[in-house]
Amino acid sequence: MVSVRELGKHVGQEVKLAGWLYNSRSSGKLVFLILRDGTGLCQCVVFQGNVSPDTYTLANSLNQETSLEIVGVVKENPKKPGDFELDVKEVIKVGDSIDYPISPKEHGVGFLMEHRHLWLRSQKQWATLRVRAMVIKAIRDFLDSEGFICVDAPCLTPTACEGTTTLFETDYFGKPAYLTQSGQLYNEATAAALGKIYCFGPVFRAEKSKTRRHLIEFWQVEPEAAWVDHEENMRIQERMTEYLVKQVLTKCKTELNVLERNTSMLEHVITPFPRITYTEAIKICQENGSDIVWGGDFGAPDESIISSKFDRPVLIEKYPTEIKAFYMKADPKDPSVVLGDDMIAPEDIGEIIGASQREDDLDVLIKKIKDHKLPMDAFEWYLDLRRFGTFVHSGFGLGIERFTAWMAGSEHIREAVPFPRMLDHIYP
Ligand code: 4AD
Ligand code: MG
Repeated sequence: MVSVRELGKHVGQEVKLAGWLYNSRSSGKLVFLILRDGTGLCQCVVFQGNVSPDTYTLANSLNQETSLEIVGVVKENPKKPGDFELDVKEVIKVGDSIDYPISPKEHGVGFLMEHRHLWLRSQKQWATLRVRAMVIKAIRDFLDSEGFICVDAPCLTPTACEGTTTLFETDYFGKPAYLTQSGQLYNEATAAALGKIYCFGPVFRAEKSKTRRHLIEFWQVEPEAAWVDHEENMRIQERMTEYLVKQVLTKCKTELNVLERNTSMLEHVITPFPRITYTEAIKICQENGSDIVWGGDFGAPDESIISSKFDRPVLIEKYPTEIKAFYMKADPKDPSVVLGDDMIAPEDIGEIIGASQREDDLDVLIKKIKDHKLPMDAFEWYLDLRRFGTFVHSGFGLGIERFTAWMAGSEHIREAVPFPRMLDHIYP
């Protein structure tokens, strides 16, 4: 068996392809079967004079998404170099497909979401998932090459990381446990053991948000590095983002084409990225009609205003201590703000990275846990990281679906994950 992607290596040879019928048409004594095998599409040309009458009749009667094996000789399309066709000798039907629900006509999103298991077969979804895979590979390549060690964090946890309002509670043999919101607290322990590390996995937020940027379950990569401060943390975020975009632009040309992605904005994702403080960002919002005041959290319209002022991602740093997580380190020069940043992507994607230097002072951290009304005993192990050789350390989290949706130009983040989990949606 040969895959569509490999056809170029077999010009002039007889090969067998296996896949599903994406589309077909006939004209005179020819039937054109467009076969989809997961690696790409191939036009398979059935000429009545070249095949048995049974094969010709079969080729003329096939429905969309019938599974097939097709034997034929590989030819380069004379009009489109680099594009290969099959001169068909034999067609074998494997599985019928009667009344396939997703026809080439337009369907509503509700219908497509209910048929997500089949919708994945269409070209734009195919391309988006391939972009996602490239984003994931590029993240791993970047971090591995920078000496970060992949260390996984648990999914079931006894405590909250990102605030108690978005926790999924589950029964852990009679005790409450929670689906993790972030691997970060564990990352801080493994960073003390291994230096520079990252965890990569699904995280869960029981968020009652119904926006095009929120999922209930999403994937996050979370690097954490010992002896890295806020400034260096921002430089790592910039360099990683630049690298990821470059990889997608160079390695996903076919996919970006299928997606009809205008890549002009992606071309100038080059470091250094602009940096502004939270206070400056508030001013920009206010000057552009937002009624946000200092101390408030940016809503999607505010993020749109801010990102519209820049031609590449922008880092907003030094948020009010009040509105950020307990673990963020207060700025020693102004403890009302934290040594943390969010990266806001252009093209209305919103926040793609949340980052900070971590509080490394035991007493300050104890006070913060109290202020946030978190259960102290559950954090004893976390406090140990400050008791036994405290260290400057920083890290960040990047949401895979938001990043993928940005690259792919998806209207909604739900297309950037195979089976999205949303407020009102868990089937299939
Ligand atoms: O800003 P967040 O909540 O940061 C953390 O979880 C930190 N503990 C990370 C760290 O420092 N190790 O989330 C990080 C990123 C966001 O910038 C966004 O890209 C994504 O995760 N994200 C979501 N993506 C989809 N749906 C949601 N509901 C998301 N919430 C956050
Ligand atoms: Mg955040």
